[in-house]
Amino acid sequence: MNLISISDLSREEILRLIESSEAFRARRSEHGTPLAKKSLAMIFEKPSTRTRVSLEIAAAELGGHPIYLSAGELQLGRGETIADTARVLSRYVHGITARVFSHNTVVQLARFASVPVVNALSDFEHPLQILADLQTMSQKFSKLEGLKVAWIGDGNNVCNSMILAAAILGMDITVASPQGYQPKARILEQAKSLGGWPKVVVEPDEAASGADVLVTDTWVSMGDEAQEAERLRVFGKYQLNSRIMELAGPEAIALHCLPAHRGQEITDEVMDGPQSAVFDEAENRLHTSKAVMAWLMR
Ligand code: CP
Ligand code: NVA
Repeated sequence: MNLISISDLSREEILRLIESSEAFRARRSEHGTPLAKKSLAMIFEKPSTRTRVSLEIAAAELGGHPIYLSAGELQLGRGETIADTARVLSRYVHGITARVFSHNTVVQLARFASVPVVNALSDFEHPLQILADLQTMSQKFSKLEGLKVAWIGDGNNVCNSMILAAAILGMDITVASPQGYQPKARILEQAKSLGGWPKVVVEPDEAASGADVLVTDTWVSMGDEAQEAERLRVFGKYQLNSRIMELAGPEAIALHCLPAHRGQEITDEVMDGPQSAVFDEAENRLHTSKAVMAWLMR
């Protein structure tokens, strides 16, 4: 079993992973070592703070041995194929995580590996992030089903995974993005086929009104740097600020996968304010990483 898309998981599997993640959180240093004598290869084509550190610590605290592999330092960088890399790593390790530019790279890794492969962010999805977001939501609200989620900003990789998760769990999601930066039809169609009813609008206020959870992410994802000037111009009003939090109401929470560009997609006031759950969300990356690895690699 692999975790390439959040839609690789059923509703029951997601809820079980959140439960397991909560159990790991409650017993941080006494939860046993289900990954004893197991190794994890962690391939990174892009920078990372949370994903790298949470996976590495999670594997170590579960008794396993994580190996950080910068893609440029692997023979992959000199032309060894993804298929051969997957076959060879599978002879050494018990699991592979990969952060890649092209989603197809992680799909190919999974196809040729004989050990579980986990997508640690591609240009199309970020399933590990969404598990942590769902755990954070479930810590703040009694149940996920029926929650009203407003995504404010780029219809990007994290947004795609959130749309699919909303469909799987019966959450009501509205995405507010500028024209040209809205989620692709393919994701919206997939969400509908999973029973979801995602809405896409242009005005951030329309998405935010009455929302339980407001989520944003950078306007310029890794790999989009060449479009930075245009993006900064177009995304100006797609910001989590005090005014938009007020539209949602005092019980609403703000999420951001981080890293944040304070003053762009989120203000200091919201990041550091009482409705922010962003640092719980970041912490939950550790617990959800444990839940995923303990499940897939045991
Ligand atoms: N949220 C997230 O994936 O952060 P990193 O890029 O620091 O891993
Ligand atoms: N959408 C962002 C998420 C970073 C964790 C990116 O892909 O760069």
